[in-house]
Amino acid sequence: MAPVQYIRTPPSIYSRVQYDNEEEGILTVAKEFIAKSSVPDFLPTWNKNEKYEPLKFYEHHDVGFKADASFPNLLPKDTVTTKNITPKLELNDAAKDELALFVAQKGLVVFRDQDIASKGPKFSADFGRYFGPLHIHPTSGAPRTSTELHVVYRRPDVKDIYENRTNLVQWHSDVSYELQPPGTTFFTVVEGPESGGDTLFADAVEAYNHLSPALQKRLEGLHAIHSGVSQALTSRRGGGLVKREPVENVHPLVRTHPVTGDKALFVNSGFTRKIVELKEDESDYLLNFLYDHLNNSHDLQARANWLPGTVAVWDNRRVNHSALLDWEGGSSRLAYRITPTAERPVYDLKDLNAPDVNRVFVGNDYTPSD
Ligand SMILES: [Fe+2]
Repeated sequence: MAPVQYIRTPPSIYSRVQYDNEEEGILTVAKEFIAKSSVPDFLPTWNKNEKYEPLKFYEHHDVGFKADASFPNLLPKDTVTTKNITPKLELNDAAKDELALFVAQKGLVVFRDQDIASKGPKFSADFGRYFGPLHIHPTSGAPRTSTELHVVYRRPDVKDIYENRTNLVQWHSDVSYELQPPGTTFFTVVEGPESGGDTLFADAVEAYNHLSPALQKRLEGLHAIHSGVSQALTSRRGGGLVKREPVENVHPLVRTHPVTGDKALFVNSGFTRKIVELKEDESDYLLNFLYDHLNNSHDLQARANWLPGTVAVWDNRRVNHSALLDWEGGSSRLAYRITPTAERPVYDLKDLNAPDVNRVFVGNDYTPSD
């Protein structure tokens, strides 16, 4: 009898081979999918020669610090009504500062009827760069002209994504394994099914506030390891590329937002692996409690649906999220994320922007590529 192959990671939109063509080292999706797309400039490509070093520490000064908290540029009184709550995302710098503050305060803001995608990939990258250096994803494809955009693409011919899993909900804070994970983050779906594919959000500030003072106190001072190894392995096992070798960094379990001063639980079931100060079984027990609390407390969650032109902006420092892959097969979905990075996470703001170094993973269950 043939051995049963055991693969823990589900065959999600992130793990399967997405490309069909290769031209001069650039991998692309099938020409038939490109021909059918109304936004071909946003379709993912993978450059086999694209390799990056681990990210280095930099001092992050959040633009929300500069904002006028009465939001005169972002929400000008003479144009804001209950039906048209926002100007387009063509914001001047003062309005961008206010947007950063507004999103830090709310966690998640959903804008309808935006035209940012119609301006092409470069506009989006330039827009996002104002908020912080853009993160280049280690495994995902990107528009050929803008490597900093993270493209989430599901091709129309994917079959039986639930083959090994009863559901594909995967709560996470984007690339939390990085030394300086993202802050103000933008996401829009530019082509997709008529319904389905919503995104779930959970507020980790609210989750922290729901805990008893005794448990809050116990969690403060603890640290957790966040790992990019399984994401890199999943990509490599699925025939994908790894543009930057994975890192594992230690972050405080409770994180303080530099602009609002709010404390948030900074753990997520996607990338957090172990609490440094605890034994393995103690760590598993406590992390599972915190995952249950964040992932299943519907009274601290929101669900965003994607109409044409919708742009969701969330603060990855205080919000976890999960995609929902619930739409019918046969329909492709193309979305992209603009991912400005932010400060090295800290519990105590006196440590804000204290220099640190990246931890490149050197464990023996991962073999770096050539
Ligand atoms: Fe995400």
